[in-house]
Amino acid sequence: MPLRLAVLLVLLAVAAAEDPYRFFTWNVTYGTIYPLGVPQQGILINGQFPGPDIYSVTNDNIIVNVFNSLDEPFLIHWNGIQNRRNSYEDGVYGTTCPIPPGKNFTYILQMKDQIGSFFYFPSLGYHKAAGGFGGIKILSRPLIPVPFPPPADDFTVLIGDWYTANHTDLRAILDKGNKLPFPDGILINGRGPNATSFTIQQGKTYRFRICNVGLQNSLNFRIQGHKMKVVEVEGTHTLQISYSSLDVHVGQCMSVLVTADQQPQDYYIVVSSRFTTPVLTTTGFLRYANSNRPASGPLPGGPTTEIDWSLNQARSIRTNLTASGPRPNPQGSYHYGMINTTRTIRLSSSAGQVDNKQRYAINSVSFVPADTPLKVADYFQISGVFRVGSMSDAPTGGGIYLDTSVMGADYRAFIEIVFQNDEDIVQSYHLSGYSFFVVGMDGGQWSSASRNQYNLRDAVSRCTVQVYPKSWSAIYVALDNVGMWNLRSEFWARQYLGQQLYLRVYTTSTSLRDEYPIPKNALLCGRASGRRTRPL
Ligand SMILES: *[C@@H]1O[C@H](CO)[C@@H](O)[C@H](O)[C@H]1NC(C)=O
Ligand SMILES: *[C@@H]1O[C@H](CO)[C@@H](O)[C@H](O)[C@H]1NC(C)=O
Ligand SMILES: *[C@@H]1O[C@H](CO)[C@@H](O)[C@H](O)[C@H]1NC(C)=O
Ligand SMILES: *[C@@H]1O[C@H](CO)[C@@H](O)[C@H](O)[C@H]1NC(C)=O
Ligand SMILES: *[C@@H]1O[C@H](CO)[C@@H](O)[C@H](O)[C@H]1NC(C)=O
Ligand SMILES: *[C@@H]1O[C@H](CO)[C@@H](O)[C@H](O)[C@H]1NC(C)=O
Repeated sequence: MPLRLAVLLVLLAVAAAEDPYRFFTWNVTYGTIYPLGVPQQGILINGQFPGPDIYSVTNDNIIVNVFNSLDEPFLIHWNGIQNRRNSYEDGVYGTTCPIPPGKNFTYILQMKDQIGSFFYFPSLGYHKAAGGFGGIKILSRPLIPVPFPPPADDFTVLIGDWYTANHTDLRAILDKGNKLPFPDGILINGRGPNATSFTIQQGKTYRFRICNVGLQNSLNFRIQGHKMKVVEVEGTHTLQISYSSLDVHVGQCMSVLVTADQQPQDYYIVVSSRFTTPVLTTTGFLRYANSNRPASGPLPGGPTTEIDWSLNQARSIRTNLTASGPRPNPQGSYHYGMINTTRTIRLSSSAGQVDNKQRYAINSVSFVPADTPLKVADYFQISGVFRVGSMSDAPTGGGIYLDTSVMGADYRAFIEIVFQNDEDIVQSYHLSGYSFFVVGMDGGQWSSASRNQYNLRDAVSRCTVQVYPKSWSAIYVALDNVGMWNLRSEFWARQYLGQQLYLRVYTTSTSLRDEYPIPKNALLCGRASGRRTRPL
């Protein structure tokens, strides 16, 4: 057995060596930033806010050595990167021990069979409110055709709501059991109103990868006088349809093409909060090179606040079945609509108080971390850290209670998950380790009859789905990635106060084809402290 393991490890190393490596060394520090004109303590990566982009090509090995120079434990999560067979690298509380202050940890990621637009952010301690996030671009391999000509440039556009309070003050409010106030503004690439511009040349076409890296609000993005052609959503090449404004919900990314086909001058870029009172708005500029004319005229207005407008736009964003994905075979050859699901999980979110403190729950369970990361406890077979089945497959209707919720699931099962949102906010759910088909969404209560309206042909496959107020969204997931995977609200105060769980995708197989062992450099903590990452 140890011999077989060793041989396999060598084989794996050889196989991986064929794909290029890209090395990054990141120093995470505090630094003073002034995005809304008020000085505050931000989290910088190599002195930058936002952090540097990760540029990569499908199957690249990305090695990121992260030095934690903060005074708090720290982790980076790779939102949308699937870390296939390797949930240890996911960088969330349940999979990876935190990097202690003054220490470092090297993430070993592979962009296996992925293309598209994603981002990273710090997952612990409400650090996300202080920065530490950045864009991730995964380009197609040179031989795989992309369904649009190479753009003249490829811009990362990180948009998000923002507080002028620092993360320790915000965290203290949540830890005391209170709700956060409304955010103070919206940032574009870490900067406030009128501070960000993108320079373009007349006649050329540009790619903008727009990600909502904020804490809670759905945002609308628009550019004065220009259409945006959506071409990609979290790894799916979409039907290329032009829009004059786009809703991007928290945690989501999409790519649009913009052609510089107007008079050469500056144009407003507007980002505004959706379905909120008041509406937060920020502006930036699309700047034609060699133009000295400032932007003028009224700011382009946002769409109606009718939920149906946003819902219809979401439904119109579909997969281009003839466009290629990360592999030579077209994505459309995967007929997800022909496969019978074997299980339906219905998840209902709720808000309430436990012991006079604000909490948020899924199926009445409000997640609390255990003393040891769940995946690490699983690897070392440390019992008593979590219970598989600590959350039911359907809402129970009972009051909110605290638990370390872990739901068991079978490797290779094909399942349906229905998110029910009976509240007045827009929800946004992310599943780590996977891309799933968004087969339907609508207002009201989901019932089995809702399946009649599913899109079983060309739904987009993505990793984050919104759920409108008093509405449901349904997804299909092929559980082809063994591991401990975080399913959470991207509404960050809700995630922090319990609206998350772990999906333990399990097999009895111990083959490396199904799951890698714990990384050799894994930090060990809690009840796993002092263990060895490799058996002798
Ligand atoms: C990180 O940056 C801080 C502040 O500039 C510096 O003191 C520290 O030596 C750096 N650490 C590494 C590992 O580069
Ligand atoms: C956040 O601001 C408070 C004052 O409002 C300060 O006491 C605290 O040290 C700050 N936190 C960080 C990480 O700078
Ligand atoms: C910390 O960084 C050093 C290089 O400076 C590296 O050799 C070591 O493996 C890193 N530690 C971890 C846990 O990745
Ligand atoms: C779909 O992709 C194909 C292949 O690249 C392309 O020719 C076609 O224009 C695309 N269709 C739409 C509607 O985007
Ligand atoms: C940004 O620019 C617009 C148009 O010039 C102006 O109306 C607005 O007041 C500016 N905002 C800020 C915060 O400077
Ligand atoms: C799916 O289920 C239907 C109805 O139970 C059945 O008729 C069909 O053969 C099943 N399809 C597959 C591929 O198993």
